[in-house]
Amino acid sequence: MIPSHTVDEIKNRIDLVEVVGDFVSLKRKGQNMWACCPFHNEKSPSFSVSPTKGFYKCFGCGKAGDAIDFVMEIEKLNYVESLKFLAKKYGIEVQEKELTDDQAQQQSERESLHILLNAAKEYFETTLWDTPEGRSIGLGYFKERKMTDAILKKFELGFVKDEWDGFYKHALKNGHTEEMLEKAGLLIVKENKKYDRFRGRIIFPIHNVSGRVVGFGARALKKDDKPKYINSPETAIYVKNQVLYGLFQAKQAIRMAENCFLVEGYTDVTSLHEVGIENVVASSGTSLTEGQIKLIQRFSPTITVLYDGDMAGIKASLRGIDMILAQGLNVKMVLLPEGEDPDSYSKALGAEAFTQYLEDKKEDFIHFKANLLAQEAEKDPIKKAESIKEIVSSIGVIPDAIKRSVYIKEAGDLLGIEEQVLIGELNKILRKNAKSSAYKKPEGVVVTEPKAVEQEVSWDLVEIIKYQEQESIRLLLEYAQVELDKETSLQTYLLNELEDVEFLSETHAVIFNKFREELAKGNTATIDYFIKNGSAEVRKTVIDIISKKRDVSSKWSDKYKIFIPNESDKLHLERTALTNILRLKQRVVRRMLEDNIERLKTAKNEDEQTEVQQIHAELKKTETEIAALLGNVILK
Ligand code: UTP
Ligand code: MN
Repeated sequence: MIPSHTVDEIKNRIDLVEVVGDFVSLKRKGQNMWACCPFHNEKSPSFSVSPTKGFYKCFGCGKAGDAIDFVMEIEKLNYVESLKFLAKKYGIEVQEKELTDDQAQQQSERESLHILLNAAKEYFETTLWDTPEGRSIGLGYFKERKMTDAILKKFELGFVKDEWDGFYKHALKNGHTEEMLEKAGLLIVKENKKYDRFRGRIIFPIHNVSGRVVGFGARALKKDDKPKYINSPETAIYVKNQVLYGLFQAKQAIRMAENCFLVEGYTDVTSLHEVGIENVVASSGTSLTEGQIKLIQRFSPTITVLYDGDMAGIKASLRGIDMILAQGLNVKMVLLPEGEDPDSYSKALGAEAFTQYLEDKKEDFIHFKANLLAQEAEKDPIKKAESIKEIVSSIGVIPDAIKRSVYIKEAGDLLGIEEQVLIGELNKILRKNAKSSAYKKPEGVVVTEPKAVEQEVSWDLVEIIKYQEQESIRLLLEYAQVELDKETSLQTYLLNELEDVEFLSETHAVIFNKFREELAKGNTATIDYFIKNGSAEVRKTVIDIISKKRDVSSKWSDKYKIFIPNESDKLHLERTALTNILRLKQRVVRRMLEDNIERLKTAKNEDEQTEVQQIHAELKKTETEIAALLGNVILK
């Protein structure tokens, strides 16, 4: 167990933005920081972090909490493990009470695997730096490949001697068990033989996104040693489609550059670091999996693929790119001269020229593909129809409708085809994709049918009214005591004006009533009060509301024409309050109108019909009045 003074120390040191920032790329907008949510799949950020309040909150999936909750959720750790994780991050030593045999056994298998893999990494590193063989053969090899000590250390590269059981013996001596060694993929047990998986090789430790070693890639030293690389098998902590080589060392740089270079091999990654390009990860020779793409997406909206390319190889890998597009990422390409990979070419050109090369040759993927197809179609007219299908199928997987239409235009130009032809083809594909589950259904609508966009917008009045209620509560929570004039505080004004409004949400009603209650006593209900004393529902609602994002509002304003003026000064605040009250009333009236019209359909006799019609007229009048007032407020 962790002593309580250490827990306190950890809690005091935690910086939520720093902790979350290790996993997602946060951007400041207003008081809060925003990112695409790491807990669910999305293309525009609805995950917010409030540095001052110390909590995060996703408006998409609803996950919320503090730094410890965040680590628990994202690393799938329990409370104690999360504290340890944070302690490690902040260099706080955790002196745990001695574990009993029982407790030691209970220590999770995952944790044991981590410890064992870390021990292996240290063993390989020590062998490289501190043994004669390591220095002559291992370091010798690295020197020959022009890898500097700094990079070897940064990637924690190592070396293992050519012997059957060097690490096996070392690990047993240090209290690890044969069973765990096998589970960690370090020991091979065959019939009655046991031997190390990695022998006589260079070692590349593979880290997960938080920097813990989860596996190894081991390269042969000589050309004719086969296979060239021996890799760790999948284990409880090494799920290959969820890990990218180099991401841990790259993530800060990826975030800064808002771009992630994608290469094939371990040495491509290390070589790019050598020339100062640190935003790079390797797919380890296979095409990216969905999990890996999502991993990159946490840090960057763009992937730039470095292709070492002969045409056949390029054509074969184009399909794989569609999956990246389908996840909503931008894809760029850089084609390297034939026979060169990023490792060899960066060395050939040197840092400056290589960086320049990437800058000059960087091309949008759709352009790249369209150009490639155009070249082919030029030589072979029959291929033209095929080309159209090809390019449009790539464009069709892009989830963003606006991006799709831009690409359609450009592809039309590049291929010399009427835009309408491509649009027709695109619509066919969109319909097909919508049916198949191979790709996520693209959101939004087909490019040629703008009408459909309007149809998609549904005026769910209940939803809008609840939103407007929320806005009123937000004003109360944030500005209750602001004096609008000498006698009137915002809360007096708002609560009075909304006296006759019945709240649709019970939780909203509870919050309003609390404000009323306190105001009657001459007090003010506070955020603190609700967070400390409210029911779970109230607390959640209040956190939701105060961490509310402007962007959410702007989405609302686009969709439902809700107007939210700037609140920075008193005049604006008053106007906001008034607008909000009017909007809320307007919606309530609208809803009453709709209900009333329903009643008309079922009216049993003439009397009832007349009554309904009178009510209708009254409501219409009120609606017009509110609209006029609103017009004034907005125009002012
Ligand atoms: P490469 O053959 O391009 O290797 O394979 P490399 O990384 O450039 O290595 P060097 O420069 O020859 O030393 C690309 C990636 O494919 C995987 C590895 O992840 C490698 O980095 N691979 C390749 C294997 O897993 N096993 C193999 O036998 C070969
Ligand atoms: Mn290579």
